[in-house]
Amino acid sequence: MSLSRVGLIGFGTVGAAVYELIETNLWEAFEVTKVAVGNPNKARSAAIGDLLCDANELVRSSEVDVVVEVMGGESPALELIKTALTAGKRVVTANKELIAKHYDALMEFGGDLRYEAAVGAGIPVIQVLKTLARTNRIQSIQGILNGTTNYILSEMEARQAELAPILRESQELGYAEADPTSDIEGFDSMYKIAILGAIASGEQLDLTQIHREGIQEMSLQRVQEAAEHGKRLKLVATWSRESGARVVPQALPMDHPLARVDGVLNAVKIEGDFMPSLTLMGTGAGGRATASAICGDLVASAPSTMSS
Ligand SMILES: NC(=O)c1ccc[n+]([C@@H]2O[C@H](COP(=O)([O-])OP(=O)(O)OC[C@H]3O[C@@H](n4cnc5c(N)ncnc54)[C@H](OP(=O)(O)O)[C@@H]3O)[C@@H](O)[C@H]2O)c1
Repeated sequence: MSLSRVGLIGFGTVGAAVYELIETNLWEAFEVTKVAVGNPNKARSAAIGDLLCDANELVRSSEVDVVVEVMGGESPALELIKTALTAGKRVVTANKELIAKHYDALMEFGGDLRYEAAVGAGIPVIQVLKTLARTNRIQSIQGILNGTTNYILSEMEARQAELAPILRESQELGYAEADPTSDIEGFDSMYKIAILGAIASGEQLDLTQIHREGIQEMSLQRVQEAAEHGKRLKLVATWSRESGARVVPQALPMDHPLARVDGVLNAVKIEGDFMPSLTLMGTGAGGRATASAICGDLVASAPSTMSS
């Protein structure tokens, strides 16, 4: 079995976990040979000290077979990925914003690009949806796709608290970013449902046409009113063949498959014309779960017996 040489762009929450997973479970098949970061002067684990290089050098390096892009954002990630693909390297990314905004262009670009971790982190929803879409006409997709907002809504109900103190606490616990806009205002969920909708429909969704409401205005009173009617408030991302995509807080009845998905968990319910309903649930955020999906893509893309 030949050893695949991995170049990691980004060594934050996800990048460090990918490195750890490779070192722990995949060292026989993969070796991290280059690492690119934003600030090379930041203190790092001694193990990667000798591997540091510039991202532009990494994507062209003859010592890298497969590039893992976990720096996030649109630019320069897009240019780096295209350069790596043009150089004949396999690419794995967790970058939901990039895939949602450039789906058609990236699919047409050619080369081996995988992005399982971009939606649902450790939940293999992309793979399952692609498989279903080969045999079914996918009718609808409904998901809790953002762990931060789900944690906040769950805690508001469980502890009868307003949003602000729970948000502060989730930032302290590392569940919410210092700037929580992308999660709280529904952008993160929008990118993810746009990717799932694109796979289901076969073409990129126009993000400007996706109705998006976050939970930034959510009150304890609204949470309580839903509970009084036997319902739970969830930030639900939906795509349907008829109505397109939207992200909206919804009061779900308790017998709905997504109503009891609490805390940082994510879940996705898919309906096809022959497969009436399939729900996947699991850890939808965090370094280790995301690394699990990224490394699944690494193994699947490896030109060896590993993927069989
Ligand atoms: N965190 C999650 O739970 C999760 C789940 C699913 C998907 N994702 C996706 O995974 C990606 C990474 O997320 P994260 O949470 O790991 O972010 P993060 O902790 O902020 O890490 C980002 C990394 O990228 C590096 N970086 C920034 N600019 C760079 C540049 N120009 N060249 C090379 N490296 C650069 C940073 O360098 P420094 O270390 O020097 O700052 C840092 O190491 C994002 O696309 C995110 O949406 C994250």
